[in-house]
Amino acid sequence: MWLSMISVLAVLAITINAQQQYITTTGPSPRTQCSTAASWSQPNYHFAAFQYSMSETIRVATSVPAPTTTSTYAAPPDSLTSLIPSISYTTWGKWDPNTTASANDTDNPYGNAAWTALWEAANPPNFTEQALYSTTVEPTALPTSELILPPADYFGPTDCYQFPKEFMFGVAGSASQIEGATAEEGKSPSLMDVLVQDDRPKAYVTNENYYLYKQEIERLASMGVKYYSFSLAWTRILPFALPGTPVNQEGLQHYSDLIDFVLAKGMIPTVTLLHFDTPLQFFAGNLTATQEPPLIGYVNGGYQNETFIDAFVNYAQIAMTHYADRVPVWFTFNEPLLYSSDGKSINNVIKAHAQVYHFYKETLGGTGKISIKFNDNFGVPRDPSNPNDVYAADHFNSFQLATFCNPIFLGIDYPDSYKQTVPDYITLTAEDLAYIGGTADYLGIDPYTATVVAPPVPDSIDSILECTTNSSSPYSPYCVNQTLSNPAGWNIGYRSQSYVYITPTYLRLYLSYLYNTFRKPVIITEFGFPVFAEAEKVDLSDQLFDTPRSIYYLSYMSEVLKSIWEDGVEVAGAFAWSFADNWEFGDYDAHFGLQTVNRTTQERRFKKSFFDLVDFVNTRS
Ligand SMILES: *[C@@H]1O[C@H](CO)[C@@H](O)[C@H](O)[C@H]1NC(C)=O
Ligand SMILES: *[C@@H]1O[C@H](CO)[C@@H](O)[C@H](O)[C@H]1NC(C)=O
Ligand SMILES: *[C@@H]1O[C@H](CO)[C@@H](O)[C@H](O)[C@H]1NC(C)=O
Ligand SMILES: *[C@@H]1O[C@H](CO)[C@@H](O)[C@H](O)[C@H]1NC(C)=O
Ligand SMILES: *[C@@H]1O[C@H](CO)[C@@H](O)[C@H](O)[C@H]1NC(C)=O
Ligand SMILES: *[C@@H]1O[C@H](CO)[C@@H](O)[C@H](O)[C@H]1NC(C)=O
Ligand SMILES: *[C@@H]1O[C@H](CO)[C@@H](O)[C@H](O)[C@H]1NC(C)=O
Ligand SMILES: *[C@@H]1O[C@H](CO)[C@@H](O)[C@H](O)[C@H]1NC(C)=O
Repeated sequence: MWLSMISVLAVLAITINAQQQYITTTGPSPRTQCSTAASWSQPNYHFAAFQYSMSETIRVATSVPAPTTTSTYAAPPDSLTSLIPSISYTTWGKWDPNTTASANDTDNPYGNAAWTALWEAANPPNFTEQALYSTTVEPTALPTSELILPPADYFGPTDCYQFPKEFMFGVAGSASQIEGATAEEGKSPSLMDVLVQDDRPKAYVTNENYYLYKQEIERLASMGVKYYSFSLAWTRILPFALPGTPVNQEGLQHYSDLIDFVLAKGMIPTVTLLHFDTPLQFFAGNLTATQEPPLIGYVNGGYQNETFIDAFVNYAQIAMTHYADRVPVWFTFNEPLLYSSDGKSINNVIKAHAQVYHFYKETLGGTGKISIKFNDNFGVPRDPSNPNDVYAADHFNSFQLATFCNPIFLGIDYPDSYKQTVPDYITLTAEDLAYIGGTADYLGIDPYTATVVAPPVPDSIDSILECTTNSSSPYSPYCVNQTLSNPAGWNIGYRSQSYVYITPTYLRLYLSYLYNTFRKPVIITEFGFPVFAEAEKVDLSDQLFDTPRSIYYLSYMSEVLKSIWEDGVEVAGAFAWSFADNWEFGDYDAHFGLQTVNRTTQERRFKKSFFDLVDFVNTRS
C-alpha cells in the first residue's frame, strides 16, 4: 500500500505545477498583460461627429467536405465471417402488446413466439410507442438560414494553439438514449427497457434516431463535425443474446447503413459495443434483480453473470466481422464501474475486453484502435499539500480507474483501494495479467467535472480504511468525503442542473494524471453541461442561447490545448456529450444537448454552444 502511495506522490510531483493552489492574498488581481501599457492618467474628453457604426459579421457554418478517399481498417465482411462460428440470420417483427394474434412457431426456440415471450416477460412499464416514424426518413439538405452563427460572447479564449492534425473532434450519443423503435425490427428488451419502474416518462420513443439517423447525420455534417461516436444495441443484433443464437438481419443492416451514411457525409464513425443496455437474458427472468442496488456501482448491469464473457465476446466478434472494415476506433464498454454489481462483474468486464482486443488485433487483423471508456469525476485533494487529502484523492480515483486500468494498461494487479473494498474480488494470475496487459490503444475518459476529496474524518487515513470494510458506511464504496466547494466555501465552479460544475483547470490536471499514470493517449469520450433549468425556459430562442454551455466547452477545450502543448500530454480527441438533448436514464429533464429536440415534433435546432464549439475547433485546425 505504501509503495503504491509513493508512486502516486511521484506522479503528483510531476504534475503539481498545473495544480490549483489555495494561496491567501489580498488586493486586486494582477493584470500582467498591461505591464507595458502607456499610462492613462487623464482621459481626453472631446466632442466628435456621431455616426451609427455598429455592425455584425454574418458567418455560416462550414460543412465537412465530401470524402475523396476511403480508408479501410480490416478485410471486407465476406472474408471475415469465416473467422467465427457460422451464423444464421433471421428477422422478427414488432412487438405490439395490444395485438390479439399470437405466433404459432412455439417449437422454435428462437422463433416469433419465443421472441414475443421475451417482451411479455420484460413487461416494460407503461409501454407505449407513440412514434412519428416507422420507416427510415430520407434526409434533406439544411437551409443556410439554419447555419448562421449566433453573436459571439464578449469574453472568450485568446490562445494561439492549434489542434494536432490527427486530433479527433466529434459528438457522442448512445443507442438507448436516442433510438426509440425499441420493440421494432426484431430488437429484444434490454435493461434500459425496464430500468425505470416509476411513473417518470419512459425511453420508448426518445429521439426516434433509429428512423431519423440520416437527417441527424446530415445536420452534424452540415455543422462541420468530423467524428460521430455512437453505440450498438446488442439486443438489436442478437435478440437472444447468447452464442449460437440467430442474428437479426434488420438490426445488423441498420448499423451497417448508419456507418455507410456517416462515411458518405465525410464523417468518421466510432463504435461503443455496450452502453448500459445489457440484454435482459443475463438476469434470467428475475427483474427484481435489475432494481437491486449493486455493491459497487449504481445499477446491476448483469456483467457478473457466468455466461457474460462468452456472450459479450461472441457479440463483439459478430459486430466486428461485419463493420471493422469501416470503423477505425472501437470502445468495448461504456463506464463499466457504474453498472458493475460485484467483483465478478469487474473480472468479467476486464477479461471480455481483453479477449475482444486479442480477437480484433490477432485473429481479425484489424488496423484500427481498441479502447474502453471510463467514468470518474476527478477527485482533487481538498488541500494538495496535505498528504492525507492526497491519499484520499488517490483512493477515490484509483478505485474508479486503476481497478480497470492497472490490469488493462499496465498489466499489473488491482489497486489496494479496490481489493480492500470489494471482498469477493477475483484474483488475477500472472498469466491473466500477461494476457490482459496492453489491451487498449487509448484511455477513454468522461471527465465531466471535478470533485473535492478528503478522508471521512479529517486527516485520518484510518477512517478511509475502516470504511472500506464496512459496506454500510455512508461513505461506501469510495470511502471519502466528497464536496463541491473549495476550502473557503466557494463552489468549485459554475454549477449546472446536476453534478457538473465548470472546472476547466482541473481538467488539465486530470489529463496529466491519466497520461502519466496509465501511459496511453487519452480520448475525452464524453463531456458536457446541462444548463440549469434550460428545459423550463419558455421561449425556444432562450434555450438556444446557452452561454454557460459555451463557456464550459470553450474553457475545457482551451485547457485541452494547454495540456497538449504545455504539459506534453497526448490527448487524441474529444467527443461532446451530446449532439442533442436526450433521455438521461429516467427522464428528459437534464439537457446535455448541443441541439434542442421538440418532444412533440422531433424537430432539432442547433444551440449557440454547438456553433461556438465547432468554430473554436475549426479556427484551431
Ligand atoms: C402459423 O401461422 C401462419 C400465419 O401466421 C400460418 O401461415 C401457418 O399455417 C400456421 N402454422 C400452423 C402449424 O398453424
Ligand atoms: C395499446 O392500446 C392502448 C389503448 O388504446 C394505447 O394507449 C397504447 O398506446 C397501445 N400500446 C401500443 C404499444 O401501441
Ligand atoms: C407506470 O407504471 C408503474 C408501475 O410500473 C405505476 O406505478 C405507475 O402508476 C404507472 N404510471 C402511469 C402514468 O401509468
Ligand atoms: C445467467 O444468464 C444465463 C443466460 O441467459 C441464464 O441462463 C442464467 O440463469 C443466468 N444466471 C443467473 C445466476 O442469473
Ligand atoms: C432475484 O434477484 C434478487 C437480487 O439479486 C435476489 O435477491 C432474489 O433472490 C432473486 N430471485 C430469484 C427468484 O432468483
Ligand atoms: C459501519 O458503519 C455503520 C454506519 O456508519 C456503523 O453504524 C457501524 O458501527 C459500522 N460498523 C463497524 C464494524 O464499524
Ligand atoms: C465533508 O467535509 C466538509 C468540509 O470539511 C464538511 O463541512 C462536511 O461536514 C463533511 N461531510 C460529511 C458528510 O462528513
Ligand atoms: C414544439 O412544437 C410544437 C408544435 O409545433 C409547438 O407548439 C411547441 O411550442 C414546440 N415546443 C417548444 C419547446 O418549442
